[in-house]
Amino acid sequence: MARAKVVTVLSQKGGAGKSTLTMQLAGGLARGGLQVIVIDLDPQETALRWSHSAPEETPFPARVVRLDGPAEGLRAFLRQLGREAGVVLLDCPPSIEHPMTLAALAEADVALVPVVPSPADLWSTKAVERLILQAQASRKGLRAALVPNRVLRTNLAWDVLEVMRDFSLPVLGAALSQRNAFAQSAVIGGTVYQLGRSGAEAAREVDKLVVEVLKLTGEKV
Ligand SMILES: Nc1ncnc2c1ncn2[C@@H]1O[C@H](COP(=O)(O)OP(=O)(O)O)[C@@H](O)[C@H]1O
Ligand SMILES: [Mg+2]
Repeated sequence: MARAKVVTVLSQKGGAGKSTLTMQLAGGLARGGLQVIVIDLDPQETALRWSHSAPEETPFPARVVRLDGPAEGLRAFLRQLGREAGVVLLDCPPSIEHPMTLAALAEADVALVPVVPSPADLWSTKAVERLILQAQASRKGLRAALVPNRVLRTNLAWDVLEVMRDFSLPVLGAALSQRNAFAQSAVIGGTVYQLGRSGAEAAREVDKLVVEVLKLTGEKV
């Protein structure tokens, strides 16, 4: 079986939406029939706790596992888990100096950087961009994109343009709006697909996200 595609979700700041993006993407990819494993690399264990919030009868739609210990362990862990999955999502700690973030970027086929279109977040994303451009200089196969998050619907086009103007990394052709449904799905230990009508618009955004991410991984579903 082919090696799983590794999608690393990283950012310099906490609160940018790494865990939100990771978990919604996991749900969307799993709906498309892919075997998905989320590896929680963050000592705060947001992704792990998220999945543990699910009731027994409706477990989170993807396997979520935590990896701690030295960052050197990631490669072997991926080799072992990667056989069981089509896509592995790596949810990083909120720092690009953290050894786990660096290891996760080194293993990535695709790097996704959620960016809240606010001055502080745009600013901190500069350092992430530098790191990714450096990695791409020595590894041409590494694909990367910025993913606008917490976009205000009234400002969507404007916010996305704002992000595009400041960076040379491409901006993904999909964004997540500021929506209660994204926060609410953490409470139920699921994804916006499980929220019925109140999650419908959010689910359409995740559908788009899945299409764009699959273009980057080259995965067929
Ligand atoms: N698009 C969004 N709409 C509403 N709330 C969001 C959105 N993205 C993130 N949040 C909320 O912001 C907080 C931080 O998000 P999280 O994904 O945990 O960020 P990170 O993993 O980068 O620290 C969480 O409470 C989450 O529910
Ligand atoms: Mg997180």
